[in-house]
Amino acid sequence: MISPSIKPESLELNKKIKLGVLASGSGTNFEAVAKAITNQSLNAQIQVLIYNNPEAKVTQKAENFQIPAVLLNHRKFASREDLDKKIVEVLQEKEVDLVVMAGWMRVVTPVLIDAYPNKLVNIHPSLLPSFRGIKAITQALDAGVKITGCTVHLVVPEVDAGPVLIQAAVPILAQDTEETLHQRIQVQEHLILPLGIALAAKLNNLA
Ligand code: GAR
Repeated sequence: MISPSIKPESLELNKKIKLGVLASGSGTNFEAVAKAITNQSLNAQIQVLIYNNPEAKVTQKAENFQIPAVLLNHRKFASREDLDKKIVEVLQEKEVDLVVMAGWMRVVTPVLIDAYPNKLVNIHPSLLPSFRGIKAITQALDAGVKITGCTVHLVVPEVDAGPVLIQAAVPILAQDTEETLHQRIQVQEHLILPLGIALAAKLNNLA
């Protein structure tokens, strides 16, 4: 599922890295990262969850792990840049080293990207560079491809175009619906996201 050149021991972090997580939805990826930390496969600590949708179920997951959650509702900000400015403020206040977009359904601006150069990672439900942007799973089904997957990558201003850290492939089955395919992609997402975080930490000499 992953690049054969990656040896698990090379992902061991010799220092606890401080993460900030941005999420908009149900938070299964947030939970996967929190679990990887609890079971000691990722030497990290989630300093804060930032969420933008007051209804997001991810808050329940944060509560379960006793991780502080901050609501920054995008509707209350005049521009994407204003929202990102506030996000950076919260992340810096919490002394975050590395930022993880775990189902963050907002386009981010250089305000956030430049504050965390090479330290902002995103998970996307396709094998990038295929099927960038929204509805990646529908795009894959519509295209009739037989293999799709998920990607953890560094964030650059162009959407879903940054350097790839790690990917996992998922076959598309004849009877797949958006839901069944998303479920199987998510199983792989939960495996590669903690690995992608460790790779980004190594790349930046954080640990
Ligand atoms: C994940 O499947 C992630 O790949 C996707 O949102 C889902 C969030 O699920 N992200 C994107 O589509 C970003 N363009 P979760 O809330 O259960 O982690």
